[in-house]
Amino acid sequence: MTFLELAAKRSSIRGYKPDPVPEDWLAKVLEAGRLAPSAANKQPWHFIVVREEPARLKLQQAYPRDWFGKAPAILVVCVEPGKAWVRQDGKNYVSVDGAIAMDHMTLCAADLGLGTCWIGAFDPKKARDILGLPEGIEPLAMTPLGFPDAPPRPKSRKETAEILHYERW
Ligand SMILES: Cc1cc2nc3c(=O)[nH]c(=O)nc-3n(C[C@H](O)[C@H](O)[C@H](O)COP(=O)(O)O)c2cc1C
Repeated sequence: MTFLELAAKRSSIRGYKPDPVPEDWLAKVLEAGRLAPSAANKQPWHFIVVREEPARLKLQQAYPRDWFGKAPAILVVCVEPGKAWVRQDGKNYVSVDGAIAMDHMTLCAADLGLGTCWIGAFDPKKARDILGLPEGIEPLAMTPLGFPDAPPRPKSRKETAEILHYERW
């Protein structure tokens, strides 16, 4: 599979089989996240794997969708703004770094035939409490991880001409 084929294959999966994710596959997905680039190589992230059913159902309170808690695993990317690179105008790159790590993991999962779905619309306060996050650590994004039990939706993307500029805007 070429990279473009992989990018086309990855899509948001909102239905999962109960079958567990093989341990070595999970390790590969996590390694893909660990290898992600980050501004000034600060790596301001932590990954939490939630697999036990009671813990998944508890975390579902922060994102109340049935299919979310039913996935055999949920990955949570947490970030530490205080450890991230900050540009001279004050912009903190922590979300960019965390998003790249998450994207590496979702692409690696797709390569293995596993489904994922970026989740940003969770209740951050509930997620913090449920996950027991220490001060200074923020939940950035989550994804269920497992074998797809639902077909991917057809891709819907803007046309290249709408988004591409050469030389300047
Ligand atoms: C930062 C981010 C947050 C997202 N949050 C959610 C979410 O909370 N719930 C959800 O069902 N999908 C969520 N998605 C998935 C998008 O809806 C999805 O990526 C988009 O519609 C394109 O579809 P595709 O991923 O199948 O290509 C999110 C995606 C991104 C990148």
